[in-house]
Amino acid sequence: CGIVGYVGTEPAGPIVYGGLENLDYRGYDSSGVALVDRGLTVAKRAGEVSELRFPKEPDAVCGIGHTRWSTHGPPTDANAHPHTSKNGTVAVVHNGIVENYESLKTELVEAGYEFSSETDTEVIPHLLERELEDGHDLLSALERVVDLLEGSYAIAAVQAGTDRIVATRHESPLVIGHGDDGSFLASDVTAFLEHTRDVTYLEDGDIVSLEAGDVSVYHDGAAVDREVETVEWDADAAEKGGYEHYMRKEIHEQPTALRQALSGRIDLDRAGVDLDLEFPQGCLESLEEIQLVACGTSYYASQYAAQLLEEVADVRATVEIASEYEFDGGRDPWRTLVIAVTQSGETADTLGAIRRAAGAGARTLAVTNTLGSSVTREADDTLFIRAGPEIGVAATKTFVSQVATLALLAVDIGRGRGTLSTADARDLLGDLRGLPGAVQQVLDEEDRVLKAAREFRDSESFFFVGRRFGYPVALEGALKLKEISYDHAEGFAAGELKHGPLALVTDKTPVLAVLTDGTRAGETMNNVTEAQTRGAPAIGAVSAGLETGSLDIGLEVPNVGIFEPLVANVYFQLFAYHVANLKGRSIDKPRNLAKSVTVE
Ligand code: G6P
Repeated sequence: CGIVGYVGTEPAGPIVYGGLENLDYRGYDSSGVALVDRGLTVAKRAGEVSELRFPKEPDAVCGIGHTRWSTHGPPTDANAHPHTSKNGTVAVVHNGIVENYESLKTELVEAGYEFSSETDTEVIPHLLERELEDGHDLLSALERVVDLLEGSYAIAAVQAGTDRIVATRHESPLVIGHGDDGSFLASDVTAFLEHTRDVTYLEDGDIVSLEAGDVSVYHDGAAVDREVETVEWDADAAEKGGYEHYMRKEIHEQPTALRQALSGRIDLDRAGVDLDLEFPQGCLESLEEIQLVACGTSYYASQYAAQLLEEVADVRATVEIASEYEFDGGRDPWRTLVIAVTQSGETADTLGAIRRAAGAGARTLAVTNTLGSSVTREADDTLFIRAGPEIGVAATKTFVSQVATLALLAVDIGRGRGTLSTADARDLLGDLRGLPGAVQQVLDEEDRVLKAAREFRDSESFFFVGRRFGYPVALEGALKLKEISYDHAEGFAAGELKHGPLALVTDKTPVLAVLTDGTRAGETMNNVTEAQTRGAPAIGAVSAGLETGSLDIGLEVPNVGIFEPLVANVYFQLFAYHVANLKGRSIDKPRNLAKSVTVE
């Protein structure tokens, strides 16, 4: 989602609208704006920013706007932001997820507040208004409301009759722009770069008040000074968050994407998860079989997930390439769940597969990143991976978010069936929670990967190997490299190297291996050594503390149990990116490929 705000001496309408247009490049599903005059003028609707009928309020010098990527509630006019309070004095825009909105909503409904949307956001304007009615001003109202909220958020609010914006953030970006004619606020500098390059990045827990000539930042109740920085990027780079390519930006967004996938879904106390699925009572518990159908990167995510489902939930799980899938009977269709895993929700092969499954009487579930996509209409139920928009054709953050979301499903089913103990569920959920931090540690090692890419960029071919959970990651690592560098790369189950591919191995064919705990790393290392003795250089992604034989380059993977190969994959993504970049390839749009393939 994207937030924009302006308060100053110029008409706010065109500035806020321009900011929304600047954020719209990512393709959002709804947008809206609130302009402050004596009252509040609010316009909002489902669809792109260009479809918004913008209010003409030439005297308004203060306003906020929003583009939405739906998480709670489908993209409808009512669910679009801003959301307003009961008597319309407060308007709020929000990014992120208020995890405890249901209990807050219940409390507000009991107190007579009426809700007009299905969003988690709508609790915020009502809570603010309650504080205003108790005599607080908007800033202290926000301070008090933030204490009630759990989850991740960036929030901006305005009040009728007051040219002021108040805002705060927690695990969701928010940046202030200091202009000559006013102050700006946005979730991304792209929104206001044409007006000012002097910016202040807010920190978690900061509460800010913006007025025409005054920006005040508070933290823990005290005023604080935050640095003003000058942004040097041009608009094109700014859209990519300062990165040269969307792909690299999206690789770096993985910790955030993961936090969003997990947010509000884990309950460590009861060692369970809450996925809001609407399958009939007992359905998931009595499953005989799960079939996952997918293509490309989603297929490799499904291979990872199938192993998780078998291990964690003790349910038979198979994976099929969607274009090869036939629901061939012989099983009990009513006790079969077919899961379509698709980032876009529009892949024709995957839609065809899920239709065949539904036609044969199986229950169907869509696991997707895209609200309102075709697969969500075809399947009985949908689970969103919440990775945020992915623009680069080569899928990166959606891979890890797909696996993390399916891991939650595995825990849900395992707990429901009684095959996963409380202690094991807690360990697993703890490891999942550790995943964003572990991925960040790998991202911090990017320079080492760049060095490796420089060293091996001119290789003839690249082999990726792994066992168990490391095997789909080897396949995904090779796919990423071939997609964007156009070099030959292949992934193998490590044990298969000696059954044929070894004939291709020379000193010009580096082997990249997943050597993590729980993936029989010792045996994989033996296979790597066999390649090394034929001259192949070896690069290994190795669990912290694990002893391996000698590698040309060893890259450390923080300890997060069964999810370590996912972290190893981040090294492979960075390696593919840098090899391709050194060769000057068209990284975000590789030749002959499309982000979503809508033909069979
Ligand atoms: C295309 C893309 C791949 C993607 C595959 C499946 O081939 O280039 O990156 O993995 O489609 O896409 P889906 O949207 O179904 O996950």
